[in-house]
Amino acid sequence: MPRSVIAGIGKYIPKNTVTNQDLTKYMDTSDEWIQERTGIQERHYAERTGETTATMGAAAAREAIDRAGITPQDIDFIVFATLSPDYYFPGCGVLVQRELKMKEIGALDIRNQCSGFVYALSVADQFIKTGMYKNILVIGSEKHSFGLDFSTRGRNISVIFGDGAGAIVLQPTEDDNRGLLSTHLHSDGNNAEILAMFNPGTHANHWTAAPLADFNDAEIGDMFMSHAMIDKAQNFPNMDGPTVFKIAVEKFPAVILEALEQNGYQPADLKILIPHQANLRISQFVQKKLRLGDDQVYNNIQHYGNTTAASVPIALCEAWEKGKIQEGDLVCLAAFGSGFTWASALLKW
Ligand code: COA
Repeated sequence: MPRSVIAGIGKYIPKNTVTNQDLTKYMDTSDEWIQERTGIQERHYAERTGETTATMGAAAAREAIDRAGITPQDIDFIVFATLSPDYYFPGCGVLVQRELKMKEIGALDIRNQCSGFVYALSVADQFIKTGMYKNILVIGSEKHSFGLDFSTRGRNISVIFGDGAGAIVLQPTEDDNRGLLSTHLHSDGNNAEILAMFNPGTHANHWTAAPLADFNDAEIGDMFMSHAMIDKAQNFPNMDGPTVFKIAVEKFPAVILEALEQNGYQPADLKILIPHQANLRISQFVQKKLRLGDDQVYNNIQHYGNTTAASVPIALCEAWEKGKIQEGDLVCLAAFGSGFTWASALLKW
């Protein structure tokens, strides 16, 4: 059975840099608070119009495709992970298929928030291993800046998130010394509401509380965007940060060890761990728990914030561009996020 190998990798970071100091214009926060609690110094925001999750994803994809030495016409499947799609539906995969003028290939969107990219990679890996596809484009992209609460009410979340995109091209290899060794996916829906954006969503039934024929036009107008929904900030992400932190520092090390143990490795064997960039303090906790050296963990949250589904491919791409990953190196990708979902992937570069 062939293994999957990353044949090309790319990223797209929007030009507009937003410092912690910039955020103090909108909310009661400080550079000191943000750096101390999260490690973040700055993040990037996409253009307000014209630059979307799909266009950023397509830009990262172009780079990954070029570096793989192929063309968009060679791609035979797209897996796109995001929690901030251009449209509620359709997904972003088809928009990339259109923008890059690809063939009428399959396009799948993955909704697994911060674990989205590792989940997407795992899905793509199955198609490669079965021999169904030969060039799969896997993208993680987010435009968080479009929908954050920039008032003081939303400060515990808004300061954390940033925009960006990363992408890889996955191909089969028969080389036993390279490729994706295993992926590990988990979820626990008991904490689904701890980190969630509730609306628009069918749980509230605020749009169609009863058959439309029972309402007059004015009532239907009210239901479309209820004031209660906006007053409770349910159209923005909601998060119980301390609970997320507590569970993340338990699940991250567990899923990394699971990947290493399944393949007969120890943490010391890792060339580099690319953790989802949730919070620098979480990464430092994981590093300490697994007794990894500073050069064994890659962090770039300081400059990008948490870019959710894009954070792992952006960090992987940057680490590779800096020469920190060479052929044959043992690399672990790991993520944890809303759901809760968490995942890891172990690969030989
Ligand atoms: N600036 C200044 N003060 C802020 C603030 C901000 N941006 N955000 C929250 N605060 C305040 C709170 O209002 C609270 O004030 P109070 O004590 O007067 O009530 C105080 O800081 C402490 O809040 P708390 O939420 O307990 O802080 P914390 O130390 O847990 O840090 C997070 C908050 C969000 C940074 C931290 O919980 C975290 O990183 N959690 C994990 C989040 C995460 O990784 N999410 C993504 C998952 S993939």
